[in-house]
Amino acid sequence: MTTSNPPSAVPVSDYDPFTTEALADPIRYDGELREYASVVHLAKYDVYAVTRQSELRRVGRDRKKFSSKSRAFADPSPFKPPLMLMQDPPEHTAIKKLALELFSKESLRTLDATFHDEAERLVSGVMTEDSVELDAVASIGTAFITKVFLDALGAPEEGRELLKHFADAALNSTAPKNDLYFRKHAIGAPALEWVERNTQRETAGRRGWGKQVYTMVDEGRLSEEDGQQLVKLIFAAGFDTTIGSIVNSIRAFADNPDQWALLKANPALLDDAIEEVLRYYPPVRYTGRVAAVESEVDGFLVPEGAPVMMMWLSGGRDPSFWENPDVFDIRRENVAGHMTFGVGIHSCLGQHIARMETRAVLTAMLAHVETLEPTAPPEVADNMQGFGFTKVPVRFFSADKH
Ligand code: HEM
Repeated sequence: MTTSNPPSAVPVSDYDPFTTEALADPIRYDGELREYASVVHLAKYDVYAVTRQSELRRVGRDRKKFSSKSRAFADPSPFKPPLMLMQDPPEHTAIKKLALELFSKESLRTLDATFHDEAERLVSGVMTEDSVELDAVASIGTAFITKVFLDALGAPEEGRELLKHFADAALNSTAPKNDLYFRKHAIGAPALEWVERNTQRETAGRRGWGKQVYTMVDEGRLSEEDGQQLVKLIFAAGFDTTIGSIVNSIRAFADNPDQWALLKANPALLDDAIEEVLRYYPPVRYTGRVAAVESEVDGFLVPEGAPVMMMWLSGGRDPSFWENPDVFDIRRENVAGHMTFGVGIHSCLGQHIARMETRAVLTAMLAHVETLEPTAPPEVADNMQGFGFTKVPVRFFSADKH
């Protein structure tokens, strides 16, 4: 005979993930929430946070019980188009299939070569002396992504510096409407105007992914409006996040010189190293779902209609899945098990691009940087949905003879 206990009510917490304290150290505070329970009702916002690795995987894969048509804190925002992210099949399937055409094997090969050339130019250009002090955010992450990502999109050169404010507002828009939300939206307003202009056919349709998208529109496979939304979504989703994965790599290696020495000695570990950085410092802290029906998760009853927070950052540090989760270890066995790109049908459209960009920069660094070290504490970004840094002061010691 098998017996099973009836599901119990979801434990309640007064934790607020958006206080200044929580935003300064989400690894600690979201971690405390995870240790409290696998599913927690956050009373202040009436949302349900899924905190642990196996429950995140289960909920993320169960698109029928956990829909994306509505998401925790996902009110309409001009910075975050609802296309794809807030669709269920069959609409989601159709648009994602088209969007994936932008990243065919052949086009990825061409882009990869460009990424490596640009990374080599950037890093060798920085390493002009035996040791160089720099801010990894401005001098490496932002410089590189502003060039290669916006070239790939087909964006004009003029005004590119605005995009960081657009991306920052986008990563603060699926979040409660607090002071930070309004501040980021105000700072992002001029950038929004620039993005609106540069997602239109007249400008975006000339080159790169923008041109490919508007060709689909011309072929009658995509509506004009969806075409524009798709270009805007790529602007919103692929900029700050990839600056993040590059900068976070530099931060992790600067703090863990033994791991950099290991990678230098064995560059075949590079792909694993990138996965470990993504787990350890994920650029996206959470996304969302809505419970389409009443559902049991880990013995807890999530009510129908409940807005759900998918706490990806917390899952990456879950000790019930990862051994020594707070240790940065590029040789860990299950290194590819993280869900930093989400899981299920909504898993990240641009993940190959993100990995390629990070790989290109780290490859150039392996060639030119012997060792690296932090020179001052990093500044954590005040970002609600994202996780990253606004400043990462480091010193690179050159591998080249000057
Ligand atoms: C390290 C960099 C990146 C991270 C950490 C990241 C993270 C994520 C996550 C967690 C999701 C899943 C959302 C969910 O299931 O709720 C997602 C979806 C998405 N990402 Fe990324 N992303 C990155 C880079 C990019 C890039 C470079 C692009 C575009 C070229 C992109 C475009 C998208 C799009 C369009 C979706 C929606 C997919 C769907 O709903 O089916 N992302 N991303």
